[in-house]
Amino acid sequence: MFLWGTATASYQIEGAVAEDGRGPSIWDTFAHEPGRIRDGHTGDVACDHYNRWSEDVTLMGSLGVNSYRFSISWPRIQPEGRGKPNEAGLAFYDRLVDELCAKDIVPAATIFHWDLPQALEDRGGWLNRDTSHHLADYAGILAERLGDRVPMWITLNEPFIHMVFGYALGTHAPGRTLFLDALPAAHHQLLGHGLAAQALRAHGAERVLITNNCTPVWPASGSAEDHRAAEAYDTLHNRLFNDPLLLGKYPDLSAYGVSTLDVVRDGDLEVIAQPLDGLGINYYNPTRIAAPAPGPDSAPLPFEDAGVSGYPTTAFGWPVVPDGLRELLLGLRARYGDALPPVYVTENGCSLADEPGQDGAVDDQARIAFLDGHIGAIRAAIAEGVDVRGYYVWSLMDNFEWAEGFNQRFGLVHVDFATQKRTPKASYHWLRERIATHPLP
Ligand code: BGC
Repeated sequence: MFLWGTATASYQIEGAVAEDGRGPSIWDTFAHEPGRIRDGHTGDVACDHYNRWSEDVTLMGSLGVNSYRFSISWPRIQPEGRGKPNEAGLAFYDRLVDELCAKDIVPAATIFHWDLPQALEDRGGWLNRDTSHHLADYAGILAERLGDRVPMWITLNEPFIHMVFGYALGTHAPGRTLFLDALPAAHHQLLGHGLAAQALRAHGAERVLITNNCTPVWPASGSAEDHRAAEAYDTLHNRLFNDPLLLGKYPDLSAYGVSTLDVVRDGDLEVIAQPLDGLGINYYNPTRIAAPAPGPDSAPLPFEDAGVSGYPTTAFGWPVVPDGLRELLLGLRARYGDALPPVYVTENGCSLADEPGQDGAVDDQARIAFLDGHIGAIRAAIAEGVDVRGYYVWSLMDNFEWAEGFNQRFGLVHVDFATQKRTPKASYHWLRERIATHPLP
């Protein structure tokens, strides 16, 4: 059965940050620091999904999706990131999962979507190897409680983005600016994935996945320099996270002046490379890369983002390139061959400046075109031999878009953040029709 779903993440939608024993996460801390988030927004209330979850599942039921990808808030389950679970936190996801099952919506639970318990960050976060082991303990708690009803587990969401924005550049929580010294956060997340996968399987988990953010990388010109730069970027963004999982080794990082990841210990790669039941891919746009312009100061990185032009753009300014998804899927298949497990597109979507018109309706025709194009790209990739088994739209509803606060609307459902009123957009109605009338294999 092809999975049609929508995706969300705990900190982006739940709110209720101090309810029922939830501990603070790095995003609570970060969002409350002045200047971190556009307009000073925070996820304190967000979509109030913690209290409105039933209404939100009803919206999914009417949409006709057969799966829902949500993430579990680690600090709700373990307020300090380790130790005894918080019963009220588990009970929340229990209710959510029961309601999804009652509506025949397959729960796909992401274990970690960036909201690390602050207590673990205080001990070094993902720079500390212990965090990998804590993730596995937490995964075991979840599998024990929810594993009878959750058939699909996604250990991590986008370890690349979390490492780069959270630890290298500091635009996301925990706000660290370590540049290349952030690399241990890549290895410890991947190790955490492997250990969590073992814990999930020890509890009989049916399907274990990880979700990586992937981008096709285009050289800015035909020059050898731009090609080399594009290769370096591809290595850092895509291969650093896919190679160890699928090939059991890290790519050569010497292009960055890093010869080895010195935190890797014997046996780690075997843990990371255990078989996956699926690879989750989040696709938003391709990246065009040039060699850094020669200048007096040597460039800190061997590549520069040259920007993609000539395509429509989203409210974020991201280029809309549906065929990039087909290119990405075929590229993965070409690179990894039989080592590539079934692929699930676990996120794809666009932000638009959606507001209700006079009649109260939200007419997001550009999102319809976006989704139509990307679904077409998946159909083409399947026809060309890639085993794609699911497509999840980011996102069910407008939500807290990290550093952008509530200023980027990605939802199929509009949310009025002052009243919490939900209004399905035109794209929601379009997708319902599409799922009902054009099944994918
Ligand atoms: C993340 C989401 C985010 C989306 C749009 C992905 O990188 O997983 O949490 O909202 O992109 O920026």
